Amino acid sequence: MLNSSLVSEEKFALEMDSMDELAYYRKMFHLLPGTIYMDGNSLGLCPKDAEGSILKALEEWKQMGIRGWMEGEPPWFEMSERVGAKAASLVGARSDEVVLTGTTTVNLHALVSTFYHPTPERHVILADELNFPTDIYALGSQVALRGFDREKSLRLVRSSEGRSLDEDEIIKEMTPDVCLVLLPSVLYRSGQLLDMERLTSAARERGIIIGFDCSHSAGAIPHFLSDWGVDFAFWCSYKYMNSGPGSPAFLYVHRRHFGTMPAMAGWFGYEKSRQFEMNLEFIPALSAGAWQISSPSILGSAAVGGALKITLEAGLDRIREKSLALTSFFMRLVETYLSKPPYGFRIGTPGEPERRGGHVALEHPTEAMRINEALIARNVIPDFRPPDVIRIAPAALYTTFHDVWQVAVHLKGIMDGREYERFSKERKAVS
Ligand SMILES: Cc1ncc(COP(=O)(O)O)c(C=O)c1O
Repeated sequence: MLNSSLVSEEKFALEMDSMDELAYYRKMFHLLPGTIYMDGNSLGLCPKDAEGSILKALEEWKQMGIRGWMEGEPPWFEMSERVGAKAASLVGARSDEVVLTGTTTVNLHALVSTFYHPTPERHVILADELNFPTDIYALGSQVALRGFDREKSLRLVRSSEGRSLDEDEIIKEMTPDVCLVLLPSVLYRSGQLLDMERLTSAARERGIIIGFDCSHSAGAIPHFLSDWGVDFAFWCSYKYMNSGPGSPAFLYVHRRHFGTMPAMAGWFGYEKSRQFEMNLEFIPALSAGAWQISSPSILGSAAVGGALKITLEAGLDRIREKSLALTSFFMRLVETYLSKPPYGFRIGTPGEPERRGGHVALEHPTEAMRINEALIARNVIPDFRPPDVIRIAPAALYTTFHDVWQVAVHLKGIMDGREYERFSKERKAVS
């Protein structure tokens, strides 16, 4: 049974939807029929424009064969730079500071191997214990590759409560033995948004190179990477940028590093006008493009280019404003109706808007995994991150306030009927 106040919240949701300036964009996606999708922070839904761009590139391949590299629209040879230039405004970079290339973890390797120059006195990479594991695996292997000891040279800032990081603590750890810092913009589990500007200025004052993994903020939050002076960054395109599973990723390098020799050179990073001279001496492009390695996946790149149109047209300021309104609404519903016994939910995401990203960490102390399963059985798609977090991501471009209200109603129904008890306690391979 819904209590009457929760019923009255529906009115608020419908009113918000009726005033939503971004409502128009919802129909530009392939929505999943009968499903409330709350997983856009893992894999964004398919925009019709991405589908159209893939089909167009496919047609070009069919009609042009190899001529597509120069005669495609845009020419495939320039696609990575062109899509990068368009995406640059989303992260506050200049058009030549961003390129579409590789994949997230591979881009981390390409960038960190370039900017990590350990010496016996200055050999530490500073990261954090809440980052997505792939970054930590990659950093550990970079340290080992240089002949340093992971235990001593990869330092992880600790979290006092397992959810969030304290910028003061991070800055305290920027000691003279640190030569590179790599942090997430938004923590993948709790959704905390770090103060990138402050961290960057602290690192730069100390002569430390700083990079960010922006996978959980790109396409959701405005950034000013170039003005803040961030040295490098990388992010995937498949979350809030809606570009499709495993689509090419982005990397950013600040202009002051143009001309630096990429540590993992490949022919697509060559000075573009001379790439086909086939010289054996490597001349890097004077742009972020220098950090490309291989021939780009054109079908994947086309999807990214197509998906980008909606985000650029809708505008990041409006996306962020709606996203914050959606997450605030959900947090309020949970705190008001679902936090006390017998529900016991807790919000693990910071309450302050300037400290949170696009998703909400809904914590349940004992049954988060099975509640997540019960939501999926009711056609609500969030995801579960151990030990106790259900991530709810109401992506602004295709989620309504009414969707958010319904998630709260489903949660209440699941708890009232103890529906989660029908599910196994065994963890699935993918959640
Ligand atoms: C913060 C972060 N970095 C990296 C990745 C994954 O990287 P890749 O695209 O290389 O699989 C994820 C995946 O969800 C992520 O959340």
